[in-house]
Amino acid sequence: MSQRIAVVGTGYVGLVCGACLADLGHRVHCVDLDAAKIAALGRGEVSIFEPGLEALVASGLTSGRLTFSTDTAAAVADAGIVFIAVGTPPEPKTGNPDLTGVLAVADIVADTARGFVVLVTKSTVPVGTAKRIAARIAARKPGADVAVASNPEFLREGNAIGDFMDAERIVIGTREARALDALRETYEPLIRRGSAFVATSPETSELVKHASNAFLSTKIAFINEMARLCEKVGADVEMIAHGMGLDRRIGPDFLKPGPGYGGSCFPKDALALVNAARDAGSPLSIVETVLTSNQHHKHAMVTKIAEAVGGLEGKRIGVLGIAFKSGTDDVREAPALTIVAELVKGGAAVTAYDPKAIDNARPILNGIAYADTASGVADGADAIVVLTEWPEFAALDLRAIRERMRGRLLVDLRNVVAPDAARAAGLVLHPLGKPAPG
Ligand code: UGA
Repeated sequence: MSQRIAVVGTGYVGLVCGACLADLGHRVHCVDLDAAKIAALGRGEVSIFEPGLEALVASGLTSGRLTFSTDTAAAVADAGIVFIAVGTPPEPKTGNPDLTGVLAVADIVADTARGFVVLVTKSTVPVGTAKRIAARIAARKPGADVAVASNPEFLREGNAIGDFMDAERIVIGTREARALDALRETYEPLIRRGSAFVATSPETSELVKHASNAFLSTKIAFINEMARLCEKVGADVEMIAHGMGLDRRIGPDFLKPGPGYGGSCFPKDALALVNAARDAGSPLSIVETVLTSNQHHKHAMVTKIAEAVGGLEGKRIGVLGIAFKSGTDDVREAPALTIVAELVKGGAAVTAYDPKAIDNARPILNGIAYADTASGVADGADAIVVLTEWPEFAALDLRAIRERMRGRLLVDLRNVVAPDAARAAGLVLHPLGKPAPG
């Protein structure tokens, strides 16, 4: 059954969710306070780099099922289901998510809802938020017919449409049968296609999201520590990940070593979870260690580069990749931000290239030069360092790069460069967590 849906917030999560729900046949009204952004979206212009999103927005506009405005009250008043997808930026002091935007939407729903409304938290929120919203609405408008539910998103940047349309699980946390029924109907096309439907309490649903991200962060921190151990003892971390991953209880995913995990979710969510657990009097020592491990790993990568190049002072270093992973222009909490800043602090002159993220990096990463092409970072460089696993870095013309360098060092912190190609080009390859090719 087609639902009347309002999605408040057209950031990454809100826009993907709105466009996908419209594609499933629902009437979706997306709202945002940013008038320029809404005007652009109304013309089909999407500022976020996400494969397939612009086409989906265009088809929603054409079908008339996807509309945009800045009028939250009107959108909410007209909707049977309201998804909250506003930002929850970390508070400067604690790192906890700032819920001001989330609670403001709850107030608007309390004030404007006409009939029964299901109010759903899509933004990642601390455990207990759904309960807090329900209490707030009850206090603001006693008798309001609003049912609160948690429905976390599990989208990966760069693969968001696929993750939504082919979801492994849809988790709904609510104590209200009417809300559960409405959301089951909303997701019915996906459930029919095979997505698991998990109905639970709001607190459990909120924690499923945090526990999932914390566990994935743990896998990455674990394999990164293994990578460093491998370098000390002459073992190969990729073969270890392969050997471990064949055990179905472990699985092969999220065991790729790299310069540290980043992005807008893992670092922030793990910190929020750690704080919530401490507040609840039940600290999560493993997740706390993961946070420090990931920080330490980034510094260890700087040390690895410095040792390989024989000290940073006066060295020219070409950096390939700034985005926190490939397939996105997002540099939030990207390991490159820390690593490049430390290279510069150590006295190196850095030139960086990224196929998508340079515009986002410029305001944050000062004191370095930017190149327009991957080979552009090689001019006069003592070393090249790969920080993001963009496919184009696996297909570089390494001979041309070598010719433009003054040194021969290639530090590959994503293990994307083929050792044979590096050797043939006369480069000295330092991979991560495996013996350097002879
Ligand atoms: C992550 C989760 O994967 C999503 O399920 C979740 O919905 C999302 O956070 C969120 O909470 O919104 P995302 O931040 O887009 O998605 O990125 P990932 O693909 O998970 O990668 C995160 C970081 O881990 C990146 O820096 C990546 O390079 C790193 N990583 C990932 C590794 O170093 N090794 C791996 O094996 C996998």
